[in-house]
Amino acid sequence: MDAGLQPKRVNGFEKWEAMKQGDHPGYRHEDADETGETSLMFAVKSQVGALAKALRIFETHNVNLQHIESRPSKQIVGDYDFFVSCDNSHGGLKEAIDDLREMSETLTILTRGPPDAPGAPTDDTVPWFPRKISELDRFANQILSYGSELDSDHPGFVDKVYRARRKEFADIAFHYKHGTPIPRVTYTTEEIKTWGTIFKQLTTLYPTHACQEFNHVFPLLVDNCGFREDNIPQLQDISNFLKDCTGFTLRPVAGLLSSRDFLAGLAFRVFHSTQYIRHSSKPLYTPEPDVCHEVLGHVPLFADPNFAQFSQEIGIASLGAPDEYIEKLATCYWFTVEFGLCRQNGELKAFGAGLLSSFGELQYCLSDKPEVRSFDPPQTGIQKYPITEYQPVYYVADSFQSAQEKMRAFASTIPRKFGVRYNPYTQSVDVLDNPTQMTRYTSDIKGEMTRLEDAMRKFSQFH
Ligand SMILES: [Fe+2]
Repeated sequence: MDAGLQPKRVNGFEKWEAMKQGDHPGYRHEDADETGETSLMFAVKSQVGALAKALRIFETHNVNLQHIESRPSKQIVGDYDFFVSCDNSHGGLKEAIDDLREMSETLTILTRGPPDAPGAPTDDTVPWFPRKISELDRFANQILSYGSELDSDHPGFVDKVYRARRKEFADIAFHYKHGTPIPRVTYTTEEIKTWGTIFKQLTTLYPTHACQEFNHVFPLLVDNCGFREDNIPQLQDISNFLKDCTGFTLRPVAGLLSSRDFLAGLAFRVFHSTQYIRHSSKPLYTPEPDVCHEVLGHVPLFADPNFAQFSQEIGIASLGAPDEYIEKLATCYWFTVEFGLCRQNGELKAFGAGLLSSFGELQYCLSDKPEVRSFDPPQTGIQKYPITEYQPVYYVADSFQSAQEKMRAFASTIPRKFGVRYNPYTQSVDVLDNPTQMTRYTSDIKGEMTRLEDAMRKFSQFH
């Protein structure tokens, strides 16, 4: 693992330490391909042999295609859109792209990989991002460290049984594919005891320290998903519950994802969750996110529509954004989804998962010790923060709705040559960069507006 990405000790956020280091997505696992990857999206006229002609260009320049898809064009009526993933290792990609530009009506280049890899980003390329939910599989294993690799000062470092257990969890996630059920885990008596200790302590604080939305959902998780002191809830049960509430789903993650990949998941309302539990020797401490942090800290609010929308807004803003903006968005995420406060009925309450999963910091954050500022993405996004101690500064959101509006306004300042919207029908991202797409979007909105006007008319008639 890159020395610069070594996690530091903090209550639950090794992941975010890794993400703060100007990460560049790349394989770090032993199966890694260090050459990077380029995907091309292009449209060709609907005529016999058009695809064959385009594919011959790659053959001529010795570029191997790893994946090919074709669909009716979203950009030009009557054309076809093609999506191909290329293997850059033989070096003819640049020439192939030049030739393709001549025959294609549109061409978008998406890249990911080390900065010096063939096909690495240049001025006219866009950092790769998933266009549909199943493409989250493509970076699921591009992790910054494998979940079973522990640092020498990790509480479980010398415990062979714990390390073997961590590998079991990492392997589940490593082999997970979108659309399949998350394997159920039989947690050991020792693991359940660790969970129980944390559950018991935190649930005494929630009524007074957590925000209303959290406390509204928590009893439903007790009833529907087995949130109990003597039971560690199963990710699949939680995912089913969230899907019904807001469309959010969980997927297991084998190790540390880059900020870019983690945030991209949120654009699809997918939250990458760990499934293992911290070491039993220190139940109130974890150097990395574990199932207690995810399930107690994050899950309840993903069932709230406004919070879900806010989280997705950060994710959508991240798609194809330049690296420096990814860092700003990740910092906004840190000060909201992880460590956010809100004001309700004149009182400060916690909604960040890092707070709601830490008995100590949940009390500290509402004391008079830390500084409290109003959430303001341009400023919040550049705020430095410590990762080895409680936060000296917290940001307060007036409401999830207002935080969402602020995020949307901030997103519009990100230098990106296209707009993006999430299409829930196809669970894919529509890139809005041409009149056809925008006309279609306008027509969708008109349809929605008509439905709304009709509902309002009926409401005023009958009430
Ligand atoms: Fe977290």
